[in-house]
Parts: sequence; C-alpha cells; structure tokens
Amino acid sequence: MGRSLRDRYIFFTTISLLFIFLTSYYWRNDISDVSTPIFEEIHDNLIGPTTTAPYPKYKPTPPARSLPIVDNFPHALAAHAAADLPPIPSWNNPPTPHVLEKTPLFIGFTRNWRLLQQVVVSYITSGWPPEDIYVVENTGVMDSNKQGRLSLQNPFFLNHTRLEMLGVNVLVTPTLLTFAQLQSFYMFHSISQDWSTYFWSHMDVVSVSFEDQYYAFKQTTTTPILPSSDSKHDYSDYESVYTKCLDALRNVTAPDPATGKLSRWAMRFFSYDRLALVNVASFVEVGGWDTLIPFYMTDCDMHARLEMAHFDIKEVPAGLIYDVASSLDDLIVLYRKTGPETPEASFKDPNAIEEELKAIAESEAAASKAGLGENNEEVKKTEKRDEDKTESDIQAEKAWEKFAEGQKPPGGAGSTTSTSTSTSTISPATATPTPESSGEWTEDTIFSPAFQKLMQVLDRMQGSKHENTRGRNTWQSRQVGGQGDPFYRDSEGFDQGIQMTIEHGRRVFADKWGHRDCDIVAKGLVPEDAWRVEHDWD
Ligand SMILES: *[C@@H]1O[C@H](CO)[C@@H](O)[C@H](O)[C@H]1NC(C)=O
Ligand SMILES: *[C@@H]1O[C@H](CO)[C@@H](O)[C@H](O)[C@H]1NC(C)=O
Repeated sequence: MGRSLRDRYIFFTTISLLFIFLTSYYWRNDISDVSTPIFEEIHDNLIGPTTTAPYPKYKPTPPARSLPIVDNFPHALAAHAAADLPPIPSWNNPPTPHVLEKTPLFIGFTRNWRLLQQVVVSYITSGWPPEDIYVVENTGVMDSNKQGRLSLQNPFFLNHTRLEMLGVNVLVTPTLLTFAQLQSFYMFHSISQDWSTYFWSHMDVVSVSFEDQYYAFKQTTTTPILPSSDSKHDYSDYESVYTKCLDALRNVTAPDPATGKLSRWAMRFFSYDRLALVNVASFVEVGGWDTLIPFYMTDCDMHARLEMAHFDIKEVPAGLIYDVASSLDDLIVLYRKTGPETPEASFKDPNAIEEELKAIAESEAAASKAGLGENNEEVKKTEKRDEDKTESDIQAEKAWEKFAEGQKPPGGAGSTTSTSTSTSTISPATATPTPESSGEWTEDTIFSPAFQKLMQVLDRMQGSKHENTRGRNTWQSRQVGGQGDPFYRDSEGFDQGIQMTIEHGRRVFADKWGHRDCDIVAKGLVPEDAWRVEHDWD
C-alpha cells in the first residue's frame, strides 16, 4: 500500500503542468471559444487540426431577398415643406379644435422605413391628428437617424425630417428595447405626461376608415350617395378610424349609465391587437409588463394578469386595419385625390420578388459552376470586398427590372451598398411634378372605384403576408444594407439574436407559470402562483 515518493512527484507534476497548460491555453484564446468541447481543443492543440481548412470559415453569402429600397412617398420626397403635401380626405378631417380628451398614439419602430411611413400616413389620412402620433424610434442607433447618418438601404433607417414634415412626434429610446420593454416605455412616457390612456399600434398595419360600411348604410337612407363627384354630400354622420376610436375611449371612461360606476377596463382592441387602447391605471395596478419575458408570451402573461385582477379586455370595430408585410408603391393613394398625378393603388408582392431573386441567384450559380473552375468562389469573394456592387445588388437590380416593368432601378449602380454619404437623395423614377405648385388637388369621393381598388390591393398585401411560407414576420429581415453606417449590424445575425431571445422568453414564461401555453387563467392560476408551481409537463 501507499505510493512511493516518486509516484507522487510524477502525479503532482502532471497535475500542475496540465493546470498551467489549460490556464495558458484559455489566456491565449478568446473566451468566446469556451463552448467548444475542451478535449477536442486540446487534441487539436497537441496533434494539430486534422484538416487544413482556412480560418475563419465563412457561411455562404445570403442571396438578395428584396429589391433596393425606394421611398414609397415620392411627393413627400420632392416636397419642400409640409404645405406641399396633399390635404387628407376632407371626410376624415379630425375634429377642430382638438377634442378635450388626450388621444396619443404610439407606433414603435425598429426596422423597415417603408412600412413605418405607410402606417403613419395611413393613420393621418384616416383622421388621427398628426400631433398626437408618437413614433417611438427603437433602433438602438442613438441620434444617428436624427443626424441623417443612416442610408435608406439600412433596415434601421428612419427619416426624421420626413416625420417632422408629416407633423408627427419622434421619441428615441436610449437603447434597443425588447417588446416588453417598449411597452413599458409607452406606460412610462404616459405616466410622465399625465396621460391616463393611450393608443398603440403595430407598425406593420394600414389603417383605413369604414367607407364601405358608410356607403352601404347611406344607400339605405333617404340621402344615398350618388356617383356624381360634384354633388356635395353631408358627411356629418360619417366616422373615421379616429372618431370611432374616440367613441370607444368615451365609452370606457364614462361611468356605466345603469350603475353610475366606472368600469374596470384594461384595454380595447381594434382588429385584434393591431391597434389598442390602454388604461394606464390598470397596467400599473398589476405591476406592468414582465420584462423578463422579452417578446412572445409576454402579452399572454400581461393579459392573464389583467384578467386575474378582473380588468376587462374587449374588441370593438374602428376601421379596416390591414395586417401587412409590404408597402403600397405610392402612399399618395391614401390621400384620395383624382387626376393624372394620382396613380391607382398598387404593390409589388415581396413573396414573388423573393422567388424571382432566388431563381436569378440559382441560375447565376449554375452558370458560374458550368463556366469556371473551383477557385471561382475565392476569386469572387475577394472581388466583392473591393467593389461597390455586391452579387445581391446585381440580382436585386435584375429583379427590379422585371417587377418595375422598364423602370430603372433606383439610385443606379451600387445603390444597395450604402457608403458613407447617406443623406444623398435618391430620386425615384416615379417622382412626378406635384400639383401643389398650382395650389390645387381634386378630391375623390367616399367609396369611389379608386377606394375599392385600394381595398383590393390592401387585401392582397394582407394575403401575401399570411401566405408567406417562412412565416408572417419575414418582412423584418428581408432588407439588408447599410454596411459602414453608424451602429451597423448584420441583418441576418440581428434576426437570429432576436429569435433566440424570443425562445428564451418562452422558457421564462413556462417556468414562471409551470405551464407552457397562454391559457393560465383557464388553468385556475392566480398572480401569487407565479414562480411557485411545478411544471405541468414532463
Ligand atoms: C428625408 O426626407 C426629406 C423630406 O422629405 C427628404 O428631403 C430627404 O431626401 C429624405 N432623406 C432620405 C435619405 O431619403
Ligand atoms: C358603452 O358601450 C356599450 C355597448 O355598446 C353600452 O352598453 C354601454 O352603455 C356604453 N357605456 C357608456 C358609458 O356609454
């Protein structure tokens, strides 16, 4: 029994050497490497890697998935001042002076300027007072957008000058917030402004008033709307999206006529939660959003806790609120003017564009494989880094030619690869002289053929979003660009990081309630059960 001194010496020396080796190994290597299995690494370090693959090894370059971005409101791009913009449809004019109630509307923005501009213009043209609209810039680029330092091709681009021209407010978050944090910010800002209620809207929607319903209703009355455009109609019984929302606000905040009591209400939804009205006090009472659940399921958590506290959430109609993933080609159609300057409503289906880009990329890949040797990939990689135009730019331009039928791609060569001069204006091929110089816009009528066309196109846009095989929210990551801009992030990487955070949130929710689905109220759970019940799955 017992080890000899020599054995012990060898044993401790080995341990010490191994310790020194391991420590120094990690000192020399970036700590982000620690996830690699240690023994594989030690093996590689001692014996050398088994292959001689170059390091780092790159993922394949993703193909282009969208056309180069062009501003979707050419008239505003060409305008010098707010007065150059067309007036909104007169029947949707907000009440003047402003109603006594405060009606702030938050619209959060992280990516996709075209969608943001579309939603803002749609609320303005459906009657929301612009000064009540608060775009919450949640891009994480600090003041870079305000300084005009991001390029139009950058997914996080936001045009402050344009929003100012449209008359809306912009609040900039200090850092990139998750969904739950952004919702908390709406609460926080409302409390600081002494707003007892606020509205908030998703940014991937288009809001249009119920002209169809109004028209149908009027035809049953003694004063039907006639097709002649010169007859002056009395629209005093008409309701815009805004006035309908105002009705809902007045309804919930007034005491119940039967009991004289105020109701315990938390929210009113208009078209699911595409647009919602919030009672700040109810959110405060239940302790606000659980920011540990960053994205999906955080709404389940919040709504369930409101329900547990007997606050009601009801859905009421306010207008046609379309859920979309793309933009109308020209937002002027929302202003409902007639005349040669006003095109018909149209849009380019992003799914079709994506297919087309994929086909172009595949045929190019096949051609280069057939035509050139194996080293081609390497050659292309080095070329690409030096040139202005990337492969995906070229693919996008080709697809543009096809989809825009003869229109030139915007901005010409290399427009999708932004360089430092980001404030330069791209003048789109569709820019037309604006009639404001002559001071006249001719107004369309309620539920006109142009309006019906608009409804059809918005329906198709909604359909396209729901048809997308890769999910409803791919619009969020279609756009890439902005390389070299301040706070540049890899678009696909950003998306991947968000997806991981979403997954993490689902796990937090499941652990918090011991249940993985939304139906925690039906399960009989109460607020005190949070974090205190065992998993109900194995
Ligand atoms: C931002 O909007 C303003 C006002 O419409 C316009 O003059 C400017 O060119 C726009 N900037 C970009 C980069 O599109
Ligand atoms: C609010 O609307 C509901 C349903 O239309 C109605 O029953 C209720 O009396 C209204 N409340 C007030 C205060 O007007």
